[in-house]
Amino acid sequence: MKEMSVNYRNQTVKILLGENLLERTCFPTGVKYFILTDDNVGPLYLKKLINEIPNANYLVLPSGEGSKDTVNVLNIIGMLLELEFSKGDYFIALGGGVITDLSGFIASIYKRGMKMISIPTSLLGQVDSALGGKTGVNYSKDQLTFKNQIGTIYHPEMILIDPNFLKTLPKAEFRSGLGEIIKYGLCFDQELFYQLFESFSLTEIILPCLEIKAEVTLLDEFENSERKLLNYGHTIGHALESLSGFSLRHGEAIALGMLYETEDPLIKNELKRLYKLFDFPGFEFSRMDLITYLKQDKKISRGRIQLPVLEEIGKVCLKEIDLEELLRRI
Ligand SMILES: NC(=O)c1ccc[n+]([C@@H]2O[C@H](COP(=O)([O-])OP(=O)(O)OC[C@H]3O[C@@H](n4cnc5c(N)ncnc54)[C@H](O)[C@@H]3O)[C@@H](O)[C@H]2O)c1
Repeated sequence: MKEMSVNYRNQTVKILLGENLLERTCFPTGVKYFILTDDNVGPLYLKKLINEIPNANYLVLPSGEGSKDTVNVLNIIGMLLELEFSKGDYFIALGGGVITDLSGFIASIYKRGMKMISIPTSLLGQVDSALGGKTGVNYSKDQLTFKNQIGTIYHPEMILIDPNFLKTLPKAEFRSGLGEIIKYGLCFDQELFYQLFESFSLTEIILPCLEIKAEVTLLDEFENSERKLLNYGHTIGHALESLSGFSLRHGEAIALGMLYETEDPLIKNELKRLYKLFDFPGFEFSRMDLITYLKQDKKISRGRIQLPVLEEIGKVCLKEIDLEELLRRI
């Protein structure tokens, strides 16, 4: 089992990475637990977790982005109040990024912050979304959903990362997590990037991603500078995710976004080789529709946009470029 600690300003996050962690973790005693999970993950792993913390309360939500909403936030806060949870009690997220984002948000606002443990079960959750403290829910109005418009930066006390969870993850969800792993290699770690062309163990690739995310978010916890580098591929990626009506998963859309945001034709080819290896889907779109979406990007100011730009594989920097220049790459 690997163990690392990340010392953020207000919270030290202990990360355990290894197999069969539910059975091997000492959960604090003398406190209450509330577990949030979804209806794919719950039937597979909830019983195992409850074996370790027998008196835990729990709630199983429908899986999918639709659960990341303010109605669930208020309902769950109501349940916590009724069950007389205090600040010192624990909220446990057991699931993918939807569950960890929603749980983190609730934990951060309940009585101005209760304790939290995150148990990410998707690859995207394990390599990316569980660490760094971004929590959030979507805001919906008139059948439109605005993603992650309500949120906080709030860290769990502990993150348990067990690659065994990934054995039950559907292939497309696995690929979505790989999209973010490719980003970590492409932007920060050439060795990791080329390792993806070989056979690799999951622990071998999850750990460097966590180390990179820890390093970058420690430098800039609140995304004023360096943390923006983690958004490589996200400007075009987010636009494609929305254009596809979310039929493209987050990591799949980011993978395409990285392809379009990369200028160097040799690096573009390396990306295409990787995407073919992992069977990433393409996506047909009209250039005009994409441009319309991109022009609404909140990062644009007076026709210019601040973007992570790739210098070489493993090295990224922030640059301000003309929107027109970005559009030429599509
Ligand atoms: N906080 C952050 O820094 C951050 C970063 C990136 C993305 N996100 C958010 O994360 C969310 C996407 O995360 P995701 O891709 O994990 O989505 P998700 O939580 O919807 O999980 C994907 C699917 O896999 C299922 N699943 C998860 N683990 C499983 C397992 N072990 N076995 C079987 N099925 C399993 C889920 O039920 C779901 O159907 C989005 O809401 C996105 O906004 C947050």
